[in-house]
Amino acid sequence: MEHKELTAFPKSFLWGSASAAYQIEGAYREGGKGLSVWDKFVRIPGKTYEGTNGDVAVDHYHRYQEDVDLMAEAGLKAYRFSIAWTRIFPNGKGEPNEAGLKFYDDLINDLIAHKIEPVVTIYHWDLPQALQDEYGGWESREIIPDFLNYAKTLFDRYGDRVRYWVTLNEQNIFMQHGYLMASHPPAVKDPKRMYAANHIGNLVNATVIKYFHEHGYQGQIGPSFAYSPAYPADAAPINQLAADNAEQFNSYYWMDMYVFGHYPDLIRKWQTEQGLAPEITEADDALLKDPLSHPDFMGLNYYQTNTVAANPLDGVGMAAENTSGKKGTSKESGVPGLFKMAKNDYLQKTDWDWNIDPIGLRIALRRINSRYQLPVLITENGLGAFDTLEADHEIHDDYRIHFLREHVKAIHEAISDGVDVIGYTTWSFTDLLSWLNGYRKRYGFVYVNRDEESEKDLARYPKDSFYWYKQVIASNGEDL
Ligand code: BG6
Repeated sequence: MEHKELTAFPKSFLWGSASAAYQIEGAYREGGKGLSVWDKFVRIPGKTYEGTNGDVAVDHYHRYQEDVDLMAEAGLKAYRFSIAWTRIFPNGKGEPNEAGLKFYDDLINDLIAHKIEPVVTIYHWDLPQALQDEYGGWESREIIPDFLNYAKTLFDRYGDRVRYWVTLNEQNIFMQHGYLMASHPPAVKDPKRMYAANHIGNLVNATVIKYFHEHGYQGQIGPSFAYSPAYPADAAPINQLAADNAEQFNSYYWMDMYVFGHYPDLIRKWQTEQGLAPEITEADDALLKDPLSHPDFMGLNYYQTNTVAANPLDGVGMAAENTSGKKGTSKESGVPGLFKMAKNDYLQKTDWDWNIDPIGLRIALRRINSRYQLPVLITENGLGAFDTLEADHEIHDDYRIHFLREHVKAIHEAISDGVDVIGYTTWSFTDLLSWLNGYRKRYGFVYVNRDEESEKDLARYPKDSFYWYKQVIASNGEDL
């Protein structure tokens, strides 16, 4: 679809940036914080890149004011961050920890004082270790009341100032990495357990959204989903089918549940054949189908598209992703009988082999719009790259500017197509810890002077992309 003229970005468009508690805060034992599953997992040898962890991260806990000042200087309209459950309830439940509540109070107040809209992620993967130990975390329905109690505590404390809430960040990623690939805690490789835990994740999501809607809080709530649209490798019908399989298996399986309250029939049938179907009670079904449990927006984390081809029943299985930063080192990966990843000659890749595909963002937005008819908040998008700090403390990240410019153009086109896009919080504002890739895979507009070996001075240096984004925001997306 070509447009003679593009529709302007809405005046209220939330130009912003994003982060997650474990990846930036550090201070992992301060302010009464309890330990999360990540605090423990990073200590298992070989699990993270060169054993990196978030003990100090980029020390945002102590430097949040400096970071918010930089956000204000860039002109950010919104900032998405997550709350560490273990700061609010060190053991996951019981009495709330006032020091933890106060930390986020101060951060939210500082943002608002700078006219920056807080977008709060309730859960970005750092489950209290105590709940993992007590009942197996996501594998027990006991997590439902505990999570709800945690979310209620946040709504009651911050609901007068926070208008955008994200329930779960990338449920598809943390469940599959945690229970299928063993690359995230609790490091399990068992598809049946994965689907069972994931179903409980859906119940948590629905319970929290329903509670929010029933109790008259202001604002909007929804999950953030990591959506990588699937393309067929070519026009062969068998590969078209593979792309449809991938879309159903990787994406509709989660998004249909969020919005319609049911799993796609094709995947239910496939799971039943494989003996992997999660148990769904009548009460679950009623909760999941209740319109009050459905999101107000779809949070979209978009990094890339996947190109796929047919994969026989005895074909290739799931492989771990490239964490080497050496382009071209990814292994073959797929789901037997459904699809496997194929090369797309039209796309460039990052050093970690992620496809660079701005048009894919427009396609993602259009597909969400036509299937779900919901506004979309783009809660993540960005380029992980090696950056060089020059002697004068400048960082010339023209590759990141190019990446983001093309993606902003794609959003502009999608808005012109008729998609309701509320905002764009890029990944990330400052550099931060990549869960599995250490500190060298950088995403930020602001360079943080540290690496795997040393915390150095943790100084903040705006990159060229910082000034570029400032101009984009000031012109409401016109001056790219
Ligand atoms: C998303 C996560 O999956 O992608 C972020 O929500 C993460 O927390 C980001 O950091 C980039 O992934 P990576 O592996 O490059 O750090």
